[in-house]
Amino acid sequence: MNEALKIAIEIAQEAGVILREGFGRPKNVTYKGEVDLVTESDRRSEELVVSRLRRHFPDHGIVAEEGGGAAPNARFCWHVDPLDGTTNFAHGYPCFAVSIGLVEDGRPIAGVVLNPVYNELFYAARGEGAYLNSSRIRVSSVEKLSTSLVATGFPTHLRKSSSNIHYYWQFTLRSHGVRRDGAAALDLCSVACGRFGAFWEFGLKSWDTAAGIVIVEEAGGRVTDLNGKPYQLGGASILASNGLIHDEAMSLAASVAEKAD
Ligand code: IPD
Ligand code: CA
Ligand code: CA
Repeated sequence: MNEALKIAIEIAQEAGVILREGFGRPKNVTYKGEVDLVTESDRRSEELVVSRLRRHFPDHGIVAEEGGGAAPNARFCWHVDPLDGTTNFAHGYPCFAVSIGLVEDGRPIAGVVLNPVYNELFYAARGEGAYLNSSRIRVSSVEKLSTSLVATGFPTHLRKSSSNIHYYWQFTLRSHGVRRDGAAALDLCSVACGRFGAFWEFGLKSWDTAAGIVIVEEAGGRVTDLNGKPYQLGGASILASNGLIHDEAMSLAASVAEKAD
C-alpha cells in the first residue's frame, strides 16, 4: 500500500480513539457561529492528527479546520477535518468521522475517512482502488436518478442564504429520496460504496472533501461541480456520483438554478 496512505490510516485510527472516547462523555460545546459547534474532541483530534503529520511529513503543508495547519501552498498538502459531523457528535448521533486527505498541486491523491463508532474505514490512493475496511468498493450501478438514493447537506454558516432547499425538494420528487446525514466526508464515502447514487452540496471546504474525492474517484465515480466543471477544492458546489446519473443530476440542478434566479 502507498506509504503515505498507510501512515494516514494509522493516524486516523488514533484520532478515532479520541473521538470514540469523547462521544460517550458530556460535551464541552462552544460556538464558532450561530449554529456552528466545536467541541473539545474536535480540538484534541486535530492536535493529534496535525502533530503526527508534522512528524512524518515535515516538508508537507497542512490545512486543518480548527486552524492547526501551516504552509498551505506546499506542493504536497494534507487537508484535515478532525471531526466531520460535529453537530451529530454533540447530539449523540453516531454519524461522524475524521477525514485526512493528501493533495498534490491541488489534486487529491490519497485519503482516509474513518467513522469510529461503526468502525468503517474508507481509504484510497490514486491508481490503487478504494476500500472499506479491507474490501474493495465500487459505486452503485443504478442508471437512473428515479431509482437512486441521493444525499445533500446544508452548511451551517450559509443556512439563511442557501437555496439548497429548492434542490432538496426537486431531488426528493425525482429519486428514491434525499438523505441529509450531516457529515460530508461520509456522504462522499457512501457514494463510493454504492449506498448513495449521488451527493451534492454548496460551500464545502477543502477538509470536508479532499479525502472523499479520491475515494469516490477510485471507486469508479465522478466528481465535478454542479455545472459539470472540474471540482476545485473549496469550490462553490460539488456533485459526486456513480457517473451514470451524473448528467441527469446536473440537468435537474440546472433547472432548479434557473427557476431560483
Ligand atoms: C459539516 C458537515 C455537514 C455539512 C457542513 C459541514 P463539520 O462539517 O460535513 O454535513 O453539511 O457543510 O461544515 O462542521 O461537522 O466538520
Ligand atoms: Ca466538515
Ligand atoms: Ca469539522
